Amino acid sequence: MIRNLLKVSDFSKEECERVINKSIEVKKNPKKFRSSLEGETLLMLFEKPSLRTRISFETGMQQLGGHAIFYSIKDSPLGKKENISDTAKVASRFVNIIAARVYKRQDVWNLAKYADVPVINMLDDYAHPCQILGDFQTIKEKRGSLENFKLAYFGDGFNNVTYELMRMCAIYGLRMDVACPNNPEYSPEQSVIDEVLELSKNNGAKVKVVNNALEAAKDADVIYTDSWMSYGIPKEQEEERKKAFMPYQVTSSIMEAAKSDAIFMNCLPAMREYEQTAEVIDGPQSVVFDQAENRLHIQKAIMLFLRDKF
Ligand code: CP
Ligand code: NVA
Repeated sequence: MIRNLLKVSDFSKEECERVINKSIEVKKNPKKFRSSLEGETLLMLFEKPSLRTRISFETGMQQLGGHAIFYSIKDSPLGKKENISDTAKVASRFVNIIAARVYKRQDVWNLAKYADVPVINMLDDYAHPCQILGDFQTIKEKRGSLENFKLAYFGDGFNNVTYELMRMCAIYGLRMDVACPNNPEYSPEQSVIDEVLELSKNNGAKVKVVNNALEAAKDADVIYTDSWMSYGIPKEQEEERKKAFMPYQVTSSIMEAAKSDAIFMNCLPAMREYEQTAEVIDGPQSVVFDQAENRLHIQKAIMLFLRDKF
């Protein structure tokens, strides 16, 4: 059966665990895997910008002995002059994996529906699974385990990365507070809350939305924030969003309210003095660059998993 990775909950906890452990192995001994995907091709379709995702996938595929194609959707007929189903079927005749970063979740779902090869979501408006698997690798490396910790998220609750953190904390039976404004435009969608409740059944996970930042920070082991201006949000909304999210900015006071050994994470790109202050992101508790590096290793492990190479 062809497997896809459209959101992190497409993998079971056991599969997430296997992929994270493989990534740790690949990171330790990259040379061992240099021919693992020899002769294989990854197609990367980009509708939105990227630095980390594009470079890490391209480098990762090359390090596995394969080849990656960067294809800007701006230059393609995707969804305009031809159906996404035709694109998926044609690309499947040429390449071994299709990855896509699109605005609308339905587009990557359709690619997966019609492709005959695995499809990886490189970020849409609903999910960012490669990011969150890499982030959990980082947490495992920093804490030594993925058991029994509290993650607190601050800022935009109506957000791909937030949704994936919620799903992953639910899968792992963890505690998570999402601190965001009391406004449906900035809070998680109901379908995500429903999915998280389902994933939390019988495993002790407690994922909840709160509106008070200090309450979320209390006892937290991981403090996480993401951009207030995700790709595609119009510039005209910036002032309004800044006003709404400022009470959720990660400051030194938030870090002090968390556990003394808490780590600070941001998937990047980050804006200093927006979602966090410079002293937090550039401070001793920040792990953002280790977090960014792990995108390379985890994506190699994801591609190996989807190509059935371990
Ligand atoms: N974190 C992340 O996905 O970064 P890019 O948008 O640069 O790919
Ligand atoms: N929420 C952000 C994540 C960037 C990696 C965005 O969608 O732009």
